[in-house]
Amino acid sequence: MSEFQQKCSIIGRDRLAPDVFRLTLQAPKIAAEAQPGQFVMVRVIDGLDPLLRRPFSIHRSCADGSISLLFKVLGKGTAMLARRCVGDELDLVGPLGNGFDFSDERPVCLIGGGMGIAPLLFLAEQLHSTGRATEKDHILLGARTKDELTPLADEFSALGYTVQLATDDGSIGRKGFIPDLLGFVLPTVEQVYTCGPHLMMENVVRQCQQAEVHCQVSLETHMACGIGACLGCTVNGKRGLVRVCQQGPVFNADHLEWSLV
Ligand SMILES: Cc1cc2nc3c(=O)[nH]c(=O)nc-3n(C[C@H](O)[C@H](O)[C@H](O)COP(=O)(O)OP(=O)(O)OC[C@H]3O[C@@H](n4cnc5c(N)ncnc54)[C@H](O)[C@@H]3O)c2cc1C
Ligand code: FES
Repeated sequence: MSEFQQKCSIIGRDRLAPDVFRLTLQAPKIAAEAQPGQFVMVRVIDGLDPLLRRPFSIHRSCADGSISLLFKVLGKGTAMLARRCVGDELDLVGPLGNGFDFSDERPVCLIGGGMGIAPLLFLAEQLHSTGRATEKDHILLGARTKDELTPLADEFSALGYTVQLATDDGSIGRKGFIPDLLGFVLPTVEQVYTCGPHLMMENVVRQCQQAEVHCQVSLETHMACGIGACLGCTVNGKRGLVRVCQQGPVFNADHLEWSLV
């Protein structure tokens, strides 16, 4: 699979919540190759500080050669990215890593927490484009509060999926954690895809293993190089250390040592 370094113009910038942004970039080479679950390494600014690129999931990839990134402002890099404007150029490397395996027709459940929702919209759109019966699939989305969920939830619903929400503050959907909703859904699906905070994914994986439902997880470890050179992203797999940037970020959950991840 090919990867590219490309200067990409920002062609869209939306503020979905006070600290959540969506950038759309003209990135034809990356868009042509991107698979759901893959990511790009972004140089957030042309100068040397911060020196390291930041990893972001490909949130959307469109036939017009554009890709979108969805991100929350956490620190210096994401704050700088949030200040970039339409017309600015960003230097991207990607698409990187291994994405989700979604080659069959089994009913599925996509579970996203916080910015872990980002890669799942791309996956949902690709699943939908295969012509499958999306009404048998489930989408469970969780976040701190309503603002972070509503525009995204509407985009999943528009594809015909059954969408359930949970928020920490109860401002929309169930008050509580998204894995609490999984017990009702698991008997009806055969494959789960999840991305989000570690504790959420650990809970999801445990439930899937008990119910003997296949589960793929997308990990968002800290990354320095994104291309397998620094070993900064390693986690424990069942057969030893694995590099999330190269062997992941999507893994079969059963291949990871969850007590040590
Ligand atoms: C494969 C992959 C895909 C990702 N996709 C997305 C995405 O689609 N949207 C999105 O918002 N974020 C995503 N992330 C996380 C994103 O890369 C970090 O939020 C970003 O690098 C933070 O940069 P910063 O300079 O703003 O923060 P820093 O100044 O580097 O750190 C600020 C704070 O954020 C914490 N932090 C930094 N990186 C991470 C991380 N990976 N996980 C948890 N906490 C972190 C630090 O510990 C620190 O407390 C992804 C990460 C990976 C590895
Ligand atoms: S980020 Fe450097 S090896 Fe994975």
